[in-house]
Amino acid sequence: MPVSAIEVSGLSKHFGSLKAVDSVSFSVAEGEIFGLLGPNGAGKTTTISMLATMLFPSNGKAKVAGHSLEDHDAVRNSIGIVFQDPSLDDELTGMENLMFHARIYHIPRKERGPRAMEVLKLVGLEDRASSLVKTYSGGMKRRLEIARGLMHKPKILFLDEPTLGLDPQTRRAVWDQVRTLNKKHGVTIILTTHYMEEADQLCDRIAIMDHGRIIALDTPDKLKASLGGDVITILTPDAGKLEKCLQVKAPATIKQVDGGLVVTSKRGDKAAPKILSIAHNRGIRVDSINVKKPSLEDVFIQHTGRSIREREASTTEVMRAVYNTGWGK
Ligand SMILES: Nc1ncnc2c1ncn2[C@@H]1O[C@H](COP(=O)(O)OP(=O)(O)OP(=O)(O)O)[C@@H](O)[C@H]1O
Ligand SMILES: [Mg+2]
Repeated sequence: MPVSAIEVSGLSKHFGSLKAVDSVSFSVAEGEIFGLLGPNGAGKTTTISMLATMLFPSNGKAKVAGHSLEDHDAVRNSIGIVFQDPSLDDELTGMENLMFHARIYHIPRKERGPRAMEVLKLVGLEDRASSLVKTYSGGMKRRLEIARGLMHKPKILFLDEPTLGLDPQTRRAVWDQVRTLNKKHGVTIILTTHYMEEADQLCDRIAIMDHGRIIALDTPDKLKASLGGDVITILTPDAGKLEKCLQVKAPATIKQVDGGLVVTSKRGDKAAPKILSIAHNRGIRVDSINVKKPSLEDVFIQHTGRSIREREASTTEVMRAVYNTGWGK
């Protein structure tokens, strides 16, 4: 049996009538990279804030590195945390940021400098140690925050949206750092993300969260395999009619999503031409049809009937609405 780094049982957080986290249970093995994946507001930050003893649970319990959450100091000494919102001092150098953190964590004075250099090397920032943080790129800032989370040699590192807002190339560089920490230095990592690819590429196991609950938990491969085959997405103005026609021949599962149809089938390559021919015979227009291996996005759709992206799109919609009011012109 692998040793548990984290054990969570029925953990909940209520803000008034809102169940931000609604009785979640899971465990993370030592040496694992464990992901909480979900859209905005799913309860990811709230979950790890409770595990990091930043927030009192409303219900339930958890053990982190063998310590219960009431034992704040023992938990905090075992963990490092990188917050979702950047929390570096831009007017200090990288080294000064780390030294400040070392003081807060009561790292003995003599150890501070060498340890800071050690973690800077770990994230590849040693030659920028004495530059002001305001001259760092977004990816460098994120790496410095990870370095800071490692100053007191925690066994467990919490990363809340480690690559939020970073470009794809920088995101990959941060993934490499996270893998190195995990594989070479044995740090157990629990991260939150709403990037499906990040969870897929980086995590040994993933808990998919929505509305405060865990709706699926497994390895990325098993989550994807749980759909039972290939995913066929059909865009048509007659989704309802086509769904009825296909149900007669039901290949596996059929769902209406975003005004189209999503069909899963063991052999997508064989099912797709059949679907087109049925549509053609019934006079149903098909604007596009796409066959692919399932992604975590498809797993999310299967469980919730919506896509994660659909909810992310709301930020763009807000910006568009603001622009249309004339503020941006
Ligand atoms: N201090 C608070 N008071 C009231 N409601 C809160 C508070 N913190 C979080 N919430 C609410 O709890 C829910 C979960 O928030 P949380 O920050 O955990 O989501 P998240 O999954 O981290 O989302 P994101 O991807 O946007 O970071 C949201 O509806 C949020 O508005
Ligand atoms: Mg969050």
